[in-house]
Amino acid sequence: MSVPQNLLLHDIPDYHKLDVYISNGGYDIYRKAIKMTPDEVTNEVKKSGLRGRGGAAFPTGLKWTFMPKGNDKPKYLAVNGDESEPGSFKDRQIFERNPHQLIEGILIAGYAMGINAAYIYIRGEYHKWIKLMQKALDDAYVKGFVGKKMKDTFGNNYFIDIYIHKGAGAYICGEETSLMVSIGGDRGYPRYKPPFPAQRGIWDMPTTVNNVETITTVPAIMKIGADTYSKIGTPGHPGTLLFGVSGHVKKPGVHELPTGTLLSDIIYNYCGGVRNDKKIKAVIPGGSSTPPLRGDEIEGVKMDEESLKAFGTHIGTGGIIVMDEDTDVVKVTLRIAHFYHHESCGQCTPCREGCGWMENILKRVAAGEATSHDLDMLITVANNIEGNTICALGDAAAWPVRGFVTKFREDFEKAVKEKRTYIPPNIVHGRRNTSEELTTIAS
Ligand SMILES: Cc1cc2nc3c(=O)[nH]c(=O)nc-3n(C[C@H](O)[C@H](O)[C@H](O)COP(=O)(O)O)c2cc1C
Ligand code: SF4
Repeated sequence: MSVPQNLLLHDIPDYHKLDVYISNGGYDIYRKAIKMTPDEVTNEVKKSGLRGRGGAAFPTGLKWTFMPKGNDKPKYLAVNGDESEPGSFKDRQIFERNPHQLIEGILIAGYAMGINAAYIYIRGEYHKWIKLMQKALDDAYVKGFVGKKMKDTFGNNYFIDIYIHKGAGAYICGEETSLMVSIGGDRGYPRYKPPFPAQRGIWDMPTTVNNVETITTVPAIMKIGADTYSKIGTPGHPGTLLFGVSGHVKKPGVHELPTGTLLSDIIYNYCGGVRNDKKIKAVIPGGSSTPPLRGDEIEGVKMDEESLKAFGTHIGTGGIIVMDEDTDVVKVTLRIAHFYHHESCGQCTPCREGCGWMENILKRVAAGEATSHDLDMLITVANNIEGNTICALGDAAAWPVRGFVTKFREDFEKAVKEKRTYIPPNIVHGRRNTSEELTTIAS
């Protein structure tokens, strides 16, 4: 069988409509899946090598095996479409262009894990995409593809109900423990793991959390078979990925490509190269939390988790942000630090305080009020946040700051040395002047 490249986004007109989806074999894959036992379905997903597309690249089949067997408790599937990481805009392509494959993926995942209720958690600002997804879900219900009517439609005893849950616009609600709490009706605060979601999830019941793209990939795997799927892209991280490319490229957009595609190929062939044919200063490979690459190190870089790890970064959500040679990386780092400081839920001290310290130091660097010592301090603060918090937002805040300061130290040194404002000793007993006072003194 030849290896298909488009498993998630198809070029068929009106593919988002139920009748078009059905006429292209839609919901037949679920029919095929229920001829297998639930464990066989899980094993097929395991064999495919599919890794989660929500950021951590965790093996999906393995995650499904954590779900306890038996029906003594309700079990839930939470499909994560919070998509709030700056630079990430790929899940909304699925809501818009292929919602029925997502629904079919939920049916298959639900069948494999014995789950009767699923929640699709969609970022609150995605008004348009919530509506589109709801329409697709309503159509599937009417047709008897979801809910109790499934039993008659597909002639077996399994059913699943699917609900759309609208987020309220908090990045932290994309973190899995906080997402489950938010679905349960409480404020989206993360909590420690263990217990893991499969032990204690929505309303304290066993839950599996998977990203929208992950679940949408499942019908494609069942269609072409795990063996064929595992041969697409790189062996350690197979399949296709939705790469959302933004920044200084001529043609920003989302491209479905095999893992392991060269980053330079994505930028120059699929996205038309850099605007005004400038050189590249930096590339963020997988959403704002992933450490950047320098323009002079992207040659030969492959876009999959294992290859990127070798460069000290990650595939994350596949959200690639390209920055040209004129980019002020100090301002970029400050903007990113501001985002994480603003989104920190404030429960743990290293994240709550550390994110604020990093932002404040960066403000001083950008204003020409810092010293080289402050740059070292930024790295120290980032190091002390990483790994010392309840959830991974702390790491997500620390990585880009440490990455930018380390990889672009010369730009930061320039900012502190060349832009540095002369701060005269203060007339009030050595208190340091603020930049506003200096402006007043100068005038
Ligand atoms: C602060 C934060 C925000 C996150 N936001 C998202 C998100 O918007 N979508 C998503 O799928 N995963 C997000 N994640 C990762 C989830 O916690 C979880 O790992 C993922 O949904 C699991 O799905 P997967 O195994 O299919 O990748 C976020 C993690 C953190 C720490
Ligand atoms: S790391 Fe930050 S966002 Fe996560 S729980 Fe702690 S304070 Fe909240």
